[in-house]
Amino acid sequence: MSQTLTLTRPDDWHLHFRDGEQLRGTVPATAATFRRAIVMPNLTPPVTTAERALAYRQRIMAAAPAEADFEPLMVIYLTDATSPADIAEAAASGIVYGAKLYPAGATTNSDSGVRDPAAIYHLYEALEKHDLPLLLHGEVTESEIDIFDREKVFIDRYLNDIREKFPALRIVLEHVTTRDGIEFVQAHQRLTAATVTPQHLMMNRNDLLVGGVRPHNYCLPILKRREHQLAIQQAVLSGDSRFFLGTDSAPHAQDKKEAACGCAGCYSAPAALPLYATFFDQHNALDKLEAFASFFGPDFYRLPRNSDSVTLIRESWIIPAHVDVGGVTMVPWQAGIEVPWKMAD
Ligand code: DOR
Ligand code: ZN
Repeated sequence: MSQTLTLTRPDDWHLHFRDGEQLRGTVPATAATFRRAIVMPNLTPPVTTAERALAYRQRIMAAAPAEADFEPLMVIYLTDATSPADIAEAAASGIVYGAKLYPAGATTNSDSGVRDPAAIYHLYEALEKHDLPLLLHGEVTESEIDIFDREKVFIDRYLNDIREKFPALRIVLEHVTTRDGIEFVQAHQRLTAATVTPQHLMMNRNDLLVGGVRPHNYCLPILKRREHQLAIQQAVLSGDSRFFLGTDSAPHAQDKKEAACGCAGCYSAPAALPLYATFFDQHNALDKLEAFASFFGPDFYRLPRNSDSVTLIRESWIIPAHVDVGGVTMVPWQAGIEVPWKMAD
């Protein structure tokens, strides 16, 4: 049994850094493992333009350890007021790598999001023209739609048509959670992809609800039934290049998670790669980890693969109960759990 595992340095293709003081905690936690990250724009106010993305990028860089060579890949946040000119500007900026569609009200800081995904075809057209990927929070928000069905309904109601009308548009179904999402991606060509979080790979809704409510496993889109988890696992283990690593690490203060109305998001950055490695190891598929973590993402984004490497060692450790993130106490996802793989120093 191999005791070390060296792979090309991975990137995180979906991540929430937050802002201000918290960057002092979140940026080093990610930069310790990943060379690049697609940085979600759901701040208050949201990162809606190239100009705001550039300013946010500078704040992130100021928090990155000098030796890390870390590169944030910025994303603009689509609103009902976004114009094709905003997209042209973002594409020309050289620092923006995608545009995020949050249906209004779908999740944290999505109030300024798009009210009707069917009403912004002019923006999909601009994204296709400027070759900027569309990054989707693929859930409908209507109160009458069951929370467990929201991804499927989004695909049926909006995504099939967007895919068909804009064949050259690169689309990422972020944090895929259902068999329906997996099958949607598999049914299309290489311009359609999905990121996969550690929680949707390793857990299902029992981990959220059996034996008591587990607020630290609550995220959006919500964990689904086991059959959906199995579909995600099979897609990833098949080595299909359309499925790649995106942690969706999304820190919230401990008291905001452990509350009567707890926030959605799992702060997985402190243990992300060891957790993914554990999943692949449990399925005798460690040989598939490198492509998932380090090759498929840059290939999709048409960026060079990283040239340096990281090493994991087979040594068990326990994910800390708490971490300080810029003066705020957070509970990392899987706190207190023993993990058999560890990042080498
Ligand atoms: O669980 C989530 N947390 N899902 C999202 O879509 C947003 C994220 C956050 O920003 O906290
Ligand atoms: Zn996210």
